[in-house]
Amino acid sequence: MRCGAVAEWSKALAWKVSIRQNRIEGSNPSRSANSLQLFRRISAAAHFRLVGGMASAKIPWFPSSWRSRQALQQPDYADSGQLDRILAEIRRNGSLVTPKECAALRDACAAAASGEAFIVQAGDCAESLDQDAVAAAETTTELIATLSDAVGGEAVSIARIAGQFAKPRSEPFETRDGMSLPSYRGDAINGLPFNLEARRHDPARLLAAYRHSAATLGHLHRLDRRPYTSHEALVLPYEESLLSQDEDGRWWSGSAHMLWIGERTRQVNGGHIQFASGIENVVGVKCGPSLGTDELVHLADKLDPARVAGKLLLIGRFGAKIIEDCLPPLLRASRREGLAATWMIDPMHGNTRHYEGRKQRRITDMIEEVRAFFAICRSEGVDGVGIHLEVTAGAGSECIGPDGRDPMADFPCDPRLNAEQARYLVGLAASLRRVPAEA
Ligand code: PEP
Ligand code: CO
Repeated sequence: MRCGAVAEWSKALAWKVSIRQNRIEGSNPSRSANSLQLFRRISAAAHFRLVGGMASAKIPWFPSSWRSRQALQQPDYADSGQLDRILAEIRRNGSLVTPKECAALRDACAAAASGEAFIVQAGDCAESLDQDAVAAAETTTELIATLSDAVGGEAVSIARIAGQFAKPRSEPFETRDGMSLPSYRGDAINGLPFNLEARRHDPARLLAAYRHSAATLGHLHRLDRRPYTSHEALVLPYEESLLSQDEDGRWWSGSAHMLWIGERTRQVNGGHIQFASGIENVVGVKCGPSLGTDELVHLADKLDPARVAGKLLLIGRFGAKIIEDCLPPLLRASRREGLAATWMIDPMHGNTRHYEGRKQRRITDMIEEVRAFFAICRSEGVDGVGIHLEVTAGAGSECIGPDGRDPMADFPCDPRLNAEQARYLVGLAASLRRVPAEA
């Protein structure tokens, strides 16, 4: 069963073809528009193939086993030799985090699952290579600490930091004044300026992102109350290059303490789920409107077959208007199948509106989704154990506040909450979790 027919995956499938075309066609707008139509037709067929035959197929896991699966949203590099050299350099430099730290996060998430703590995951939509790594580590740590204080009890703090440099995109192209260029996919892949050279996918950016992450982590280690690190596990060759084995032969991601798989890349038989199924780290999955109950169970079978509390974080992001249709069947399936998965709410990504070519997010929508999430959890007998937010330590506002005025701020990716808005949502979520179920 599926909640709403969302065709985001099909759009996502289009980009790989489209960027190739774009390289050939340069910036000829009319040809780009025609080819966009063609990509949509091709991707609709691919969507049918992937989603139609959804039965979960298990293949043996090894670090590169994801390569035998279709992995969406991957960069398309012109020079694979350069990519190999970059990956070898990253491998030589080695893990950014240790299995011991990652195991500590698993224990902390298990404690959250048993009611002893609330998970606060927050940070930038996308980190920037232009940001000073030391300053970013300090401001984000301070911000996450104040958000965790808003819990009013024990908190597990996880930052979107030290690796959140790659973005999945629904639209393969961005069009301005009739000119289409490949979308910006995060500083680890290409650049934000709207010109063909910046938007080229450049493997050297992976190394720059790795070094920036290493500098950020180096500084985090010097701070008190430092958060665990996390990012979306999107660029699989990069993630593969940072795998490491512990003395028991188990594999851990060395790129962050926690990795999540995004809404656009969580296909049961896709490369991302194959990759994530072999690592011991806490793994998150974004759960949006297109997730069916069967798919949810297949995902849990792959990512947490032993049903270990705290291993799998399911991060709902449906949108205030449809969470009431989407979430109850998923929670019932979680209970019925005895999933140990831990549910959290991301009230940002299902509530992005598009208005006159701009993205908007309203705090009122987010409050509504958080309230609905905990009310549904309560009535379905499932504990909601955390919240996932995009925040900025900056002084201004990017999201629309209760007065309804659009702050019209500039942001590279998605509108983020400011500290005050985020603190309010964290406090609200933590207090709603504590509301006892009706007898
Ligand atoms: C994100 O968290 O930045 C993101 C892209 O989320 P989602 O996969 O839920 O859209
Ligand atoms: Co985002």
